[in-house]
Order: sequence, then structure tokens, then C-alpha cells
Amino acid sequence: MCGIIGAVGRDDETLETLVHGLAKLEYRGYDSAGVALTGDGSGVDICKRAGEIDDLRESLETRSPSGAVGIGHTRWSTHGPPNDANAHPHKDCTGDVAVVHNGIIENYQSVRDELTTSGHTFRSDTDTEVVPHLIEEGLANGLDPEAAFREAVGRIEGSYAIAAVIAGEETIFAARNDSPLVLGLDNEIFYLASDVPAFRDFTDQVVYLADGEFARLDDDWTVTDADGTVLDKDVETVEWDPEETGKSGYDHYMLKEIHEQPRALRQCLRGRVDELGGSVDLGDLGDLSPTGVQFVACGTSYHAALYGAQLFEHAGVPAQAFLASEYAASPPPIGDALVIGVTQSGETADTLSALREASRRGARTLAVTNTVGSTAARECDHVFYIRAGPEIGVAATKTFASQQAALNLLTLATAGGDTRSVVPALRDLPGNVQALLDDSRAADIAEIYEDASSYFFIGRGYHYPVALEGALKMKEITYKHAEGFAAGELKHGPLALVTEDTPVFAIVTGDNEMATKTIGNVKEVEARDAPVVAVTDGQSDVERYADHVLRVPETHPRAAAVLANVQLQLVAYHVANRLGRSIDKPRNLAKSVTVE
Ligand code: G6P
Repeated sequence: MCGIIGAVGRDDETLETLVHGLAKLEYRGYDSAGVALTGDGSGVDICKRAGEIDDLRESLETRSPSGAVGIGHTRWSTHGPPNDANAHPHKDCTGDVAVVHNGIIENYQSVRDELTTSGHTFRSDTDTEVVPHLIEEGLANGLDPEAAFREAVGRIEGSYAIAAVIAGEETIFAARNDSPLVLGLDNEIFYLASDVPAFRDFTDQVVYLADGEFARLDDDWTVTDADGTVLDKDVETVEWDPEETGKSGYDHYMLKEIHEQPRALRQCLRGRVDELGGSVDLGDLGDLSPTGVQFVACGTSYHAALYGAQLFEHAGVPAQAFLASEYAASPPPIGDALVIGVTQSGETADTLSALREASRRGARTLAVTNTVGSTAARECDHVFYIRAGPEIGVAATKTFASQQAALNLLTLATAGGDTRSVVPALRDLPGNVQALLDDSRAADIAEIYEDASSYFFIGRGYHYPVALEGALKMKEITYKHAEGFAAGELKHGPLALVTEDTPVFAIVTGDNEMATKTIGNVKEVEARDAPVVAVTDGQSDVERYADHVLRVPETHPRAAAVLANVQLQLVAYHVANRLGRSIDKPRNLAKSVTVE
């Protein structure tokens, strides 16, 4: 996730403050970084490059921008690959305006087309670059800098935290909508950042901006609403230890990322579903119209692929999910199938190898990934980004939820389906995940069952991949035995393992034939004295046979599979935490496995 830092301070210190702030934001994940500075009567000087903060430092050794006022940015690509040109800050044609931005500008293409027609030259692939050009337009039309900034922000739609500097102004102009921005106050020095760690070493006095608010930092600070009315904002004191701020107060990145899921899902859906008409538009993905789909993936992404295959099948398109490492061993007839690699990193060797094999055999390939510019994104014929933001914990959480959402969008856009009932359920997902997170009993369940010898997970249909994923999460971070089964398979062997020491998590939502059958499986387990935890929306009577209940909001079955998984993530997390495991870096595992 991109990071922003800004400072209005003293000439000889601002650059160092910005670079220090960028280094503090590294934990968010990034692929390029840059700064822009300006001072009294001087122009705007920018230094930026792809790579790490140390690469930027190296560039700064040869040419150091100076000035008392500056903005800096760590970029995590969403539009255009990670390269020097796409790194922030971005400037206008004159070079007098520099802008950094977090978020996604949904209408950037139409604004860019309009600006290009009126003579502006763009130097990057980013959505952000429209902003400095819009400010340039305002200035050229005689607006003062603040009015030009406000007008530019008024032209864009989407999510943003934006900060701009303009030559000749010892001021930072900023605005936020659905992307965090916070001010830091330190006597006569003022900071601005996407997250407190960026300036926490300098001050603990902060002012949080709300959506729709603007800030102006010069020799004072002011926050205004969209009409320009000055707001009386509270100054708050941050209590966090600077060392821990990367986790925003959470004990582990995994827990933080579990709680980031509402936001990740919103980002995934943003600009892709029509709020009113209920239609799905995936922009420049191209006309895929698959007549058959083969998924290839590993680990958690394989579970998302199993879920995705069901989505396509329901839409009438034959689909199969393959473990990427097995794909080449027994190559399926490829026909004119679209081969979809699901991979959050875009770098998993097994998945890349299967995609290359498919490509060699003439298939069209599509990468569904979280990582712009990754190998899968570059090598596949098409790419669809899940936009979950960087995930630091080794165990995948928010990327799985975003893969599920993205695969729903992909199916609706390319194979059709019941858009009218699915789109509203997708739109409700962020709110429903939040409601679940606010009210989960997963920690209590973890306390009751932390000593169990094995954990079993069962589900049917869309809940079958979730059962597999629930078990994988438990294994990965607790180091305890866990298995997921298709609920109907339990009686064909695994039931022999079920005892009073093996809690069974049964995912049952809705009140239909599938729910009734799974309840039948629950009864089989109950008769063997195994404790049962029902993950349910309460529509069926599964609770009668369960020892405990983890509740999910009532929704479409596809969305219920996202929600059920969040409860299971929390159970695994709390068991692992009680056992004192290394949750963010489990033994023997790596976030991205680049060997076959
Ligand atoms: C590794 C990780 C898993 C992940 C899998 C696939 O094994 O430990 O958490 O699910 O790779 O990763 P990908 O980046 O392709 O989704």
C-alpha cells in the first residue's frame, strides 16, 4: 500500500525528515519511492526512482533537492509497472506542481483524455498524474494555488489521499477521501502522512482527517471542509510505541491484515461494479468470453481457484482448478480454454511454470494477482488485479478474500450470471466483514479448543474450499494437525479419526438441501462425541447440533463463503496466539515460493 509523508519545517532538515518518514513506511510494502521539495522563491525539485529507499538515498547523494517544504511517497503499483517514471511525486507540464497520491482515481482515463486533447503531456502510466495537470489548468486559468488544488480534487472520483506542493508556495495542500491521512504537530514544524509511524519519532500530537476534508500546512495548520469552512479539529495524543506502529496497534501483521479486509474488499470492487445498475465493468481487461476455464494455483490461491471454478460452472462455463505443481504432470486437454493463474505474489514458481506450459500449448492465459508488474502479470496475455494492498504476514488472509471477490467480478463480467443478486451481496461484503469482525467469538472458541489434537473443517459447495482454507490456516500458524473435507466425504474414511478431542468446524449457511445434508454430517460427528462449532448465518437449525456457534451475516451463498472464512482466520489466529507461535513468520514457510 502506498505511503505518504509531508513536512513543512526547516530548510536543512526537511529532506532528511522525508526520507526518514519513507523508511518508517516501508512495512506497508512498496516498489518505488520519491520526494519533491520546494522553498521560498524556488521551483519544485523532484528525486524519485524504482526500488528501495536505499536506492533513493543513493540518488539523493548525487543530487539533493532542497527546501523547507516537501512531500514524499512510497509507491505500491496499481496503474503501470514499477519504474522510475511511474514513481511519485508526479508533476505537471511546467514542473511547478508536484503531487503524491494513495488510492485509485476511477475517472482518470476520461480526465487524462481531456487533458491530452487540450495539450498536456503525460509522462507516466499512473492515474495520479492527472492531478498535477488539473492543478496546472486551474493556475493557468488564474485561480490561486489553494483554489486550483480544490478544483482539481473536485474533478476526480475514487479514493485518494493527496498532497501537493506548488513552486513559490511554502505550503502543502492535502485532501482525503477513503484513504487515510493524518497531520502531526510539533511546535512550528508540521507533518502529514498516510500513517502515524512516518512521523512518530518526532511527535505524538496528531489530527486525523476525515473523508471530504482538506488540509493546508504552512506556518500554521488548517483543516477545512469541501466548502472551505474551517473545522475545529481535535488534536489527539498517540500512545503507541514507535517500534510497534507498523502494526497500527495490532499484535501481529496477520491480525491487522484480517482487520484490513473490509478496506481490501472495497478497493477490489471500487469502480468495477455499478452501484445503481448492478452491472460489472472490468475496464480494459479485454473480451475474454471463455468457453472453458482451467485454474492453476498453489496453497491458499488454489483454494480461491477451487471457489472460482465453481463460480464459472454455475455460470455455465466448464471450469476446473488444478494444483499448479501437478498441472504439467497430467496435462488436461486444453482446447480453447482460458488458463487462469491465481497468485497473490505473481511469483510462485509452480504457478508460473503451469502458466508457461499452458501458453506453450497455445492457451490464452490470465493472471489474477495482487502484484502489479510481477512475473505472472508480465507474462500472461491478460491480467486482473485483486487490489488487496501488500500483505506482510506469511499466512494469506486479505488476499484470499480479495481473490474471492475478484473471481466473482471476473465470472460476472466474462461468463455472466445472476448479476442482480450477486452484485448487491458483493457491495455489502465490506460492511458484513466489518460487522463480523466487531462481534466475533473466535477468541473464545480458540480458548476452549487450543489443546485439541486435531481440527477438522467441513463444508459443501462454495464452503468446501473454505473448509480447506480454514484447515490450511490452522496448520500454517498453529503447527497443529488440521484437515478440511467436503462434508459428504467425512463418512468415507476421515470419520475414523473423529473423537471427543477433535473439534469439527462445520460451515452451514442458508436453509436448503445442501445445508440439510451438511447437518446430517454434523450429526454423524456429534454421535462420535466430537465437539462441533457451527459457522452459520442461523437460517438452518444446525445450532441444535452444535456446541458453539460462530455467526456470519445472512447474505448470498457466494458472499457467505467469504464471511465464513474470516471467522476461521480468526480462530486459527487466536489458537496460534495462545500457543505463542511465530504468527507472522511461521517456521519453514515463505511468503513467496520461487522454487518448484
Ligand atoms: C506460499 C505461501 C502460501 C501461498 C502460496 C501461493 O506457499 O506460504 O501462503 O498461498 O505460496 O502463493 P501465491 O503468491 O501464488 O498466491
